[in-house]
Amino acid sequence: MTDDRLFLVTAAAGKTGTGAVEALLDRGHRVRAAVRREDERSRRLAAAGAEVVVADLLDLDDVTRLVRGVSGAYFCYPIREGLLDATVHFAQAATEAGVRSVVAMSQISARREARSHAARQHWLAERLLDRTGLLTTHLRPTLFAEWLTTWWDRHDGEGHLRLPFGDGRHAPITAADQSRVIAALLHDPEPHDRAAYALHGPVEMNHHEIAGAISGVLGIPVHYEPISVEEFSATLVDRGFPPHLVQHLGHIAVDYRNGVFAGTNDVVETITGRAPTSVEEFVLANKSAFDGEGVS
Ligand SMILES: NC(=O)c1ccc[n+]([C@@H]2O[C@H](COP(=O)([O-])OP(=O)(O)OC[C@H]3O[C@@H](n4cnc5c(N)ncnc54)[C@H](OP(=O)(O)O)[C@@H]3O)[C@@H](O)[C@H]2O)c1
Repeated sequence: MTDDRLFLVTAAAGKTGTGAVEALLDRGHRVRAAVRREDERSRRLAAAGAEVVVADLLDLDDVTRLVRGVSGAYFCYPIREGLLDATVHFAQAATEAGVRSVVAMSQISARREARSHAARQHWLAERLLDRTGLLTTHLRPTLFAEWLTTWWDRHDGEGHLRLPFGDGRHAPITAADQSRVIAALLHDPEPHDRAAYALHGPVEMNHHEIAGAISGVLGIPVHYEPISVEEFSATLVDRGFPPHLVQHLGHIAVDYRNGVFAGTNDVVETITGRAPTSVEEFVLANKSAFDGEGVS
């Protein structure tokens, strides 16, 4: 059976977007990949068979062009200022264009009472999309496994994770697993309308256990060193993280300690038919990312 539906993937050069483009192409769909700029990543998407469009989600005219002729869209905006503007643009343009479905990236900490501006904006963005006529599915992942490569520090033959997460727990989820979920939901949106799915990896761990898992794969000692939120925030400022992201990470660290990111479930396996990736498998597949210091 031919399926010539066109799907839009926003943030297509990002962690979940890139894999979503690939997974949709693998399913034989046509894909419009929206990127913020042309570079090596956008050229790879084009080479894989996507129609690459440079667009700014903060520009209504750009978003109007993006959604033309689209059946379903993955809507994703990074943890930067502007999420609500981008969501309003998407909701209006997609409605005008008759887009049928959206899978929207949110996060597990999205709630009305969140102290993180980004988390509260995600909750508002969810409510706005729920008011459209689109078949709408929200993704609420816990912390991505990819963060481990950002926080990672390796020197004198040992690895270090210096984080303000106390003894809190989560089951890290990879972007690739989420990408497969996104493609499956876009392919068959109806059963998932108005669902908000928490997305977890397979095993809930605290950071001592995560350090142990990384150590087991790399064959070097790895230490988790709990630090205060204040020290963590100061480190992020030193590393040049934008204030919006520093504010977010400081507040979700408290959420994390309070169990907001904890848990695991079978959503990834139920939707994709494939068990999610473990921390050990992630480290093995990304060993070079653990060779030196963390990357932003
Ligand atoms: N990381 C986590 O642990 C975690 C956990 C739960 C939820 N989330 C959610 O995941 C989302 C981020 O997903 P991700 O990690 O897959 O994305 P990502 O890797 O952060 O990529 C975002 C992409 O969006 C592009 N972009 C930035 N501003 C744009 C604009 N104005 N218009 C169009 N594109 C723009 C960026 O372009 P450039 O590359 O050119 O800058 C980048 O390629 C966020 O909403 C976050 O809340 C993350």
